[in-house]
Amino acid sequence: MAFPVTRLRRLRKNQIIRDMVTETRLSVENLVMPLFVCPSTKVKNPILSMPGNYQLSVDLIVEECKKLVDKGIKSVLLFGIPEEKDEDGTVATHDDSIVQRAVKAIKKEISDIYIIADVCNCEYTVHGHCGTIVDGDVHNDKTISTLVAQALSFARVGTDMIAPSDMMDGRVGEIRKGLDANGFYNMPIMAYSAKYASAFYGPFRDAAESAPKFGNRNTYQMNPANSDEALREIEADIEEGADIVMVKPALSYLDIIRRCRETFNIPLAAYNVSGEFSMVKAAAEKGWIDEKRIVMEMLTSIKRAGADIIITYFAADAADYIN
Ligand code: PBG
Repeated sequence: MAFPVTRLRRLRKNQIIRDMVTETRLSVENLVMPLFVCPSTKVKNPILSMPGNYQLSVDLIVEECKKLVDKGIKSVLLFGIPEEKDEDGTVATHDDSIVQRAVKAIKKEISDIYIIADVCNCEYTVHGHCGTIVDGDVHNDKTISTLVAQALSFARVGTDMIAPSDMMDGRVGEIRKGLDANGFYNMPIMAYSAKYASAFYGPFRDAAESAPKFGNRNTYQMNPANSDEALREIEADIEEGADIVMVKPALSYLDIIRRCRETFNIPLAAYNVSGEFSMVKAAAEKGWIDEKRIVMEMLTSIKRAGADIIITYFAADAADYIN
């Protein structure tokens, strides 16, 4: 039925009817807050390119988690800044490595929190690449062995979920095998499946001190021009045993999120990454945009595209806006 019989504005008349026909509703349960943990105590280093975010020592991460849980943000994604780095990231495979210490401290103090640990080597290698370098490139299979060791250590200290973000081929399957062989068959894996080689990670690399010292990540992360390939990556991770798959970044990749949602029947996460966060903060500081409205519109668009879980540095702010 066409105009004038049909008038779509009828259902936009006031807030009550608009609310009644709202298709997508963002809730705090969808949101995960990334946090950066560093050594020592009482350290709160501001991350200059990500206003309002800090490198926090273990004691202060615990305090931050308490505040998040009080706001209804019950899940955090942990990244570590270690005291020392090495060639292959072995520094992150011990039960007293930096993220592991944070997991233990948080779990001791807070019962209703869900801790996800990022599994990758870039924060832990001297060269800043996500794995072991052989002949100038990251060696796939050598890297997998440190990732499995890291994942096992996270499992031993009580992490709730692990999230491999390295983009090595076959790592989800090997991590699954390692976990199962050690009795951790209930540990879920959220795979960064379609992770693009993106300029939007710039501020994160300041935050995690993980910028590559040479070259770039183009031999392991995906080409931003590709979409069919994302489906192959996601399919491979599902076959290898991923429980949740992820598309990253989110906003320039809403089409990938939608394709994944329509193609696969599996929970989907999207990572609203550091550059997406910092651009909004910078424009808001200049008074050029309405930050609250932009944040809600962006996060809603990620959910509307098909994401169930949204990892975002806006999680705490969004919780205030939603409540
Ligand atoms: C580690 C990792 C990165 C991010 C999450 N895990 C950085 C990278 O691949 O360089 C980026 C997150 C963000 O930009 O917010 N491999």
